[in-house]
Amino acid sequence: MVDVFTCDVDWEAALADELRRTLAAGQGISPRIAVAGPGCVTLESVVGSANDPLVAFASQCLPQAEHCSATSISAWADWACRRISDKLDAFDGPWRLHVFARPFPDGVDGRRRAQLVHSKLTERLREIRRRLLRRRNEQDQGPWLLTEAWAQVLLTSPSEGYVSVVDEAGRDAWRHVVSPFVAGEIEPAVDKQAPSRAFAKLVEAELRLGRRIAAGETCVDLGASPGSWTYTALARGARVTAIDRSPLRDDLMVDRGLTFVQGDAFAYEPETPVDWLLSDIIAFPDRICELLRIWLGKRLCRQFCVTVKFRGRDDDAALENVKTVLRESGYDFGLRRLTANKNEATAYGRAVS
Ligand SMILES: C[S@@+](CC[C@H](N)C(=O)[O-])C[C@H]1O[C@@H](n2cnc3c(N)ncnc32)[C@H](O)[C@@H]1O
Repeated sequence: MVDVFTCDVDWEAALADELRRTLAAGQGISPRIAVAGPGCVTLESVVGSANDPLVAFASQCLPQAEHCSATSISAWADWACRRISDKLDAFDGPWRLHVFARPFPDGVDGRRRAQLVHSKLTERLREIRRRLLRRRNEQDQGPWLLTEAWAQVLLTSPSEGYVSVVDEAGRDAWRHVVSPFVAGEIEPAVDKQAPSRAFAKLVEAELRLGRRIAAGETCVDLGASPGSWTYTALARGARVTAIDRSPLRDDLMVDRGLTFVQGDAFAYEPETPVDWLLSDIIAFPDRICELLRIWLGKRLCRQFCVTVKFRGRDDDAALENVKTVLRESGYDFGLRRLTANKNEATAYGRAVS
């Protein structure tokens, strides 16, 4: 068995390197990692299972997955039905099914085939595993809940792929890398009125966090110009203190909910804790890591959304320090390259009360 990690095409090497760094740091051993195709990296299972891996460059993870070779849609459905029922017949809670594809090696988009496998598998479950199917959450294309078992089928080519089932016992250990969203992806939000497209990152982080900025909450937005994160927070009815060397868009500068501070975002600390720390500062990853360490260490915010930007792949290693800060912070957190991120990753989280 292998743990399968998916990512955007062309991010396989960065993801494999990140896995190597993360797992070697945790266990002092060399994990067996392979690029298995476009957007797909595998890791020999034992290592990952023991270590609760945290990898920002993975979109989705299929823990302890079994490899499948199936030449037809029916063969896919039969095989996946057997694997899922082997694991879940004895589990009496709800479960959810995600079926998705990475781009096939010949460049073909596998989404249509994944849909066909999903339909045929549902049909097969109805024929031979009615009781199991009754426990499946019908909303199986939405985010799954922490109380459910997670079944995933991944097609890496028309006839190759993996099936993974995580039950109650595994959910906690894999919570940082198994995304509740199908394929770990979220369609970036669009708002033509926003000062920039950067606002999609904040909206996506809110969705992943399961918490939105609410009316009356206080936000500090570091590196805020031209202002699309501030715009989003103000639109939700929050009060925002924005810090940047440059002003925000004119209409935001006169918003009654905004306090603008022109200056160095790294020098700013609130007098009392705020509801949200937002930071999209362009700076070296180590500076952002230090910023996080200070804000989370002093409990200056209840929630946070902070981007870490890379100038090139040489900066990726700095993410390991960010992971250490997050793990030691006592906050419930996520760290990932969001669907809306390009050459950056986003840390988000909330204080555990
Ligand atoms: C990517 S932009 C932020 C975009 C913003 N989140 C939005 O949605 O419109 C990064 C900002 O960081 C600011 N910045 C970089 N270093 C800074 C510093 N030390 N203090 C204040 N602002 C800084 C830049 O001026 C720039 O406006």
